[in-house]
Amino acid sequence: MAKTDITEKIVSLAKRRGFVFQSSEIYGGLNGCWDYGPLGVEMLNNIKQSWWKEMTYRENVEGIDAAILMHPKVWEASGHVDNFTDPMVDCKECKARFRYDILLEGLSEKAAKKMKEDLKKELNLDDDKIKSFIEDPDNSEKVLSTVNCPNCGRNGTFTKARSFNLMFKTYIGPVEDSSNIVFLRPETAQGIYVNFLNVKEAGRQKLPFGIAQIGKAFRNEINTKNFLFRTREFEQMEMQFFINPKDDGQWFEYWKEQRINWFVKHGIKKENLNIHEHEKLAHYAKAAVDIEYKFPFGWGEIEGIHNRTDFDLKRHTEYSGKKLEYFDDQTKERFIPYVIETSAGASRSFMAFLINAYDEEQVAKENSDGSKSTEVRTVLHIHPSFAPVKAAVFPLVNRDGMQDIAHNITEDLRKHFRVFYDDSGAVGRRYRRQDECGTPYCITVDSETLTNGSVTVRERDSMEQVRVHKDKLTGYLSQLIISN
Ligand code: GAP
Repeated sequence: MAKTDITEKIVSLAKRRGFVFQSSEIYGGLNGCWDYGPLGVEMLNNIKQSWWKEMTYRENVEGIDAAILMHPKVWEASGHVDNFTDPMVDCKECKARFRYDILLEGLSEKAAKKMKEDLKKELNLDDDKIKSFIEDPDNSEKVLSTVNCPNCGRNGTFTKARSFNLMFKTYIGPVEDSSNIVFLRPETAQGIYVNFLNVKEAGRQKLPFGIAQIGKAFRNEINTKNFLFRTREFEQMEMQFFINPKDDGQWFEYWKEQRINWFVKHGIKKENLNIHEHEKLAHYAKAAVDIEYKFPFGWGEIEGIHNRTDFDLKRHTEYSGKKLEYFDDQTKERFIPYVIETSAGASRSFMAFLINAYDEEQVAKENSDGSKSTEVRTVLHIHPSFAPVKAAVFPLVNRDGMQDIAHNITEDLRKHFRVFYDDSGAVGRRYRRQDECGTPYCITVDSETLTNGSVTVRERDSMEQVRVHKDKLTGYLSQLIISN
């Protein structure tokens, strides 16, 4: 299957089965925004709940839920007002706008080579120098002087690059002037830093300890392609772990391992995971790695682990005047803690888990005349604890009281899980419908149920069936589904 086909198939399945819809679809959609449907919201909640349990059901990590709108000084202190920008160039003719680095990446090999050779000759620079010359947005006008606009095709029509801040701005209160500007947070991390002292005191925590948060973040991204990968509104699952600076190496390694294990434990295939170590570090970071997933369009970051040093607490101390430091009453040391950050996208992880689960398999089929053939089954091998519907219950036929028994089983199981009842069509078709939305277990009430109370439980991935007494289903399924 071609890689582009997979993305198209998943986007189409996501819509058909109610995982993800385009935002405001009846109005033609809103670029970079998506809505989670009935199955999508269940799966997203399952992912977030699993992360929350994994990260906060331990002694030394507390959870919070900070406001999306924060004091504007937060974003000055964090560096977002000055540095959270992308270099943009405009075509003077057709007015189309592009991110400078993305425009360069999009050049054909031939065009990129020619541009480089021309510049090398004209400026008399060697290979290394020409690379940094091209990458510097200040040189964009010169660099792009021979490049065609991808929109109108005209040559050499680009403006000089300008910085475009990715934060969404709005106003607090009724007066729309500069003193009332607030930003929609572009990351949840800052809500954690500003609450460092509150949580430490309220939770009577000692170092090392962490603060975790799940919440929406907003970025006015210029290029919002690849489905849920880069959107303007998304959710993050972030944890900031405050430590004594001398222990930073050890905690960085610890959290890196913990976070990789969480993805693997929930079914992400190891061959589709990559750990990318940053060589070029952000000015505040001492170490950084990305956990990358092999999306159909290439490797993409799903989570970052960063040693952010004391940068954030120091900056907030400076801008707020409130000392965000720690006193160790055993060693009598006073210092600003270092922070190890784990920062995952909930929406991006959701997309990775969905793609990772998608499969089309050839399976045996028995035709109505008893002959055998094969058919393609589309199946989502979603980890049972993330699956939106945990079990489907079917009466084999709609007579002899099988429907009543199946309804009773459904009601019993619903006290614990999301369960779906289905009595329409052949059982084989009912299985296929559940396979396609990732339901791990299908329970069928048949004639044997009428005599001894047992039902069949068919497992999605192996398609194997076992018989279980209907009164033991809750315990049986709980064991299989609960993973952490
Ligand atoms: N506090 C650090 C921070 O925000 P980041 O690498 O900018 O770091 C962390 O973002 C994670 O948030 C990424 O690994 C990704 O999963 C997710 N993310 C970032 N921008 C996103 C976007 N525009 N759309 C969807 N997810 C995004």
